[in-house]
Formats: sequence, structure tokens, C-alpha cells
Amino acid sequence: MKRSTVLTEKNRGTWATVFAALILLPLVLSVLRPLWAAEPEVFLEAPDDRWENCLKDAEYMRFHHMDLLKETREDVMRAGIKGGITLAGCGDCHHNRELFCDRCHEKASVTLDCWGCHYYLTEQELEELEGGGE
Ligand code: HEC
Ligand code: HEC
Ligand code: HEC
Repeated sequence: MKRSTVLTEKNRGTWATVFAALILLPLVLSVLRPLWAAEPEVFLEAPDDRWENCLKDAEYMRFHHMDLLKETREDVMRAGIKGGITLAGCGDCHHNRELFCDRCHEKASVTLDCWGCHYYLTEQELEELEGGGE
């Protein structure tokens, strides 16, 4: 072994620096990580930015939007109360069904059969309609 690689009184400062650098390396890397980490993919399309709130607070909507929709449907179908919330109206603020409702439902393995009757199109359907419907 060469003399200079052996820990001696003289070079121990250098060795200490090397060890300190090694020990701190993971910390430094984790601090710098955002510099090269890919942007996380946005899971849900953000709602229309003209609005700050949903029909009810976001927490309620996240977990209970189906109750709201079912109550509204009851009101309309059974009691004939109209002019309030509509299913198609969700699309006023959540523009692309595919990147909002569908995305979440796919993950949760929920299938809806609403879209045959209710007008709430995905972006692709809209494009097809605009492209083909002269
Ligand atoms: C067979 C056709 C059909 C299907 C499928 C259907 N609906 Fe409806 N829905 C209607 C009709 C017709 C009305 C009454 C519309 C009116 O009178 O304005 C209505 C009204 C509603 C309303 C109240 C007002 C409105 O226009 O949104 C809600 C909410 C609703 N449905 C939710 C749903 C949901 C959620 C699903 C899927 C789970 C669904 N519907 C599936 C036909 C359907
Ligand atoms: C007037 C615009 C508007 C309408 C109409 C609207 N939303 Fe929202 N929605 C928002 C906004 C804004 C947020 C985000 C609120 C927040 O982050 O505090 C939101 C959030 C949500 C969330 C929670 C998303 C999450 O981050 O987990 C759900 C679920 C939701 N909306 C469902 C619906 C449904 C279903 C309808 C139709 C019945 C609807 N929204 C109609 C504006 C709207
Ligand atoms: C944050 C995720 C999320 C978003 C966004 C979301 N949903 Fe849902 N939705 C769910 C989950 C999870 C369920 C199933 C809940 C259960 O079975 O208890 C569900 C259930 C439903 C149901 C009831 C289905 C049934 O057969 O009982 C309807 C109707 C519905 N969602 C409509 C919508 C509409 C319309 C939108 C878009 C405007 C939307 N959802 C956006 C997560 C979401």
C-alpha cells in the first residue's frame, strides 16, 4: 500500500473530509432530487379555474357525489323539481369527463351507465362530433 493512502497524523484531515462527504451524500442527493425528478402526472384534471368550489365542499364531493346525484335524480324524477343540479352540469366545470369522472371510476372499478342518456361527453366524443357533424 502506498504511504499516502494510509491514515496518518498528517493526512487525517483529508480522510475525515472524505468520510464526511460519503456520509452526507444521500442527504445531498435527496435535497437535490427535485432537480431531475420527473413532474408527477396529474391524476385528475383541475376544474375550470373560474371556480373555487364545487357544488358542495370538495371533501363531501370526493366521497359523496353519488349521493348528491341520486338525491337530485329522485327530486327530478319523483317530485318534478327541476332547475337545480344536473349531471350534464358537472361538465361545465369538469370539462373532460375522461380525465375526471372516468379516470377515478376506472381506478375504483366503478362502471356507470349514465352517458347513454345524459349529455356529458369526453374530449374524444366532442372532437368526433365537431369533426363529423357538418
Ligand atoms: C335510460 C336513460 C337514463 C339513464 C341510463 C340515466 N338517466 Fe338520469 N335521467 C334520465 C331522464 C329522462 C331524466 C329526467 C330529465 C329531465 O326531466 O330533465 C334524468 C334525470 C337525472 C338527474 C336530474 C337532472 C339531470 O338532468 O341531470 C340526475 C342527477 C340523473 N338523472 C342522474 C343519473 C345518473 C347518475 C345516471 C347513471 C348512474 C343516470 N341518470 C342514468 C334518463 C336516464
Ligand atoms: C361551478 C363549477 C363546478 C360544478 C358545476 C361542479 N364542480 Fe366539482 N369541483 C369544482 C371545483 C372548483 C372543485 C375543487 C374544489 C376544491 O379543491 O376545493 C371540484 C371538486 C370536485 C370533486 C373532488 C375532486 C377531488 O379532488 O377529489 C368531485 C368528486 C367533484 N367536484 C364532482 C362533481 C360532480 C359529480 C359534479 C356534478 C354534479 C360537479 N363536481 C360539478 C367545481 C365544480
Ligand atoms: C375522486 C374520485 C372520483 C371522481 C373525480 C368522480 N367519482 Fe364518481 N365515484 C367514485 C367512487 C370511488 C365511486 C364508488 C363509490 C361506492 O361504490 O361507494 C363513485 C360512484 C359514482 C356514482 C354511483 C355509481 C353507482 O353505480 O352507484 C356516480 C353516479 C358517480 N360516481 C358519478 C360521477 C360523476 C358524474 C363524476 C364526474 C363529474 C364523478 N363521479 C367523479 C369516485 C369518483
